[in-house]
Amino acid sequence: MADNNNKLILALDVSEYDYAIELIDKFSSYVDIFKVGLELYSVAGTQIIKEIHKRGKKVFLDLKFHDIPNTVSKAGLAVARQGVFMFNVHASGGLDMMKKCRDDVVNTCLKENLDRPRILAVTVLTSISKEVLRDEVGISHSLNTHVKHLSGLALKAGLDGVVASAHEAAKIRSHCGRGFLVVTPGIRTSWTPVDDQMRTMTPKQALREGADYLVMGRAILGQPDPVKAIEKINKEIADA
Ligand code: C5P
Repeated sequence: MADNNNKLILALDVSEYDYAIELIDKFSSYVDIFKVGLELYSVAGTQIIKEIHKRGKKVFLDLKFHDIPNTVSKAGLAVARQGVFMFNVHASGGLDMMKKCRDDVVNTCLKENLDRPRILAVTVLTSISKEVLRDEVGISHSLNTHVKHLSGLALKAGLDGVVASAHEAAKIRSHCGRGFLVVTPGIRTSWTPVDDQMRTMTPKQALREGADYLVMGRAILGQPDPVKAIEKINKEIADA
C-alpha cells in the first residue's frame, strides 16, 4: 500500500506559472503527485509537467479527454510521451474511445520503451448532484447505477481505474475488483467549506470506503495556513 504522501494528490488549480512552482516547492515534502488540470495547463502547458518531473515528483494530468476515438488516442499518446503518471478521459465518451486510447498508449509505450501512464475514466463529476444528472443531463436511472455502469465500461476498455466520488468508491470496488484504481476528488475536512462540490467526504471516510488516492485542492490551498492543513490531513490519512 502507498505511504501517506502517495495517497494524497494536490490539485494545482492556479493560473500563474510562478505561483504553481512556489506551491510545488512548498509541498514537495508532503505530496508525491501533483494534479495539473485545465486551468494550469492552459497557461503553463508542458513546461509545468517538466518542472514537476525535475523535482522527482509525479503528474496526474487531469484534462478529461472527451472526443472522437482517434483524437483522444492521439492526445493520450502525446501525454504518455511527456511521462505523466496518470491521465484521464470521460467514460461517457464510450467504449471505443476508451479502448482505442488505452490500446494505442499501451502499444506505443512498449514500442518506445516508455513508462505506461495509468489511464482513468471520469464517471460522474463530483459537482453533479443526482437531480442535475436526472433533470439536466437526462440520465433516467439513478446516479449510483450510472456510476456503476460507466465504471464497468472503463474496466471493459482495459482502463486502470476511475475518478469518482468517495460515496461510490465501495460500490465501484465490489463491481470492478481490487486492482481497479478509485481516485476520489470532492474531499473535504470537517473544518472546510464544500464550495461547488456536491458529493463530498472526509479523507478518513473516503479511505475507509476504498479510495486509493484522494484529490484535494481548495481544502488545502484555500486555508489560511495550507502547510498546517496538509499536516493535519496527513495525520487523518495515517489514522485511517
Ligand atoms: O478544490 P477541490 O478539492 O474541490 O478540487 C477538486 C479537483 O478535482 C479539481 O481540480 C477538479 O477539477 C477535480 N475533479 C473533480 N471531480 C471529478 C474529476 C476531477 O472535482 N470528477
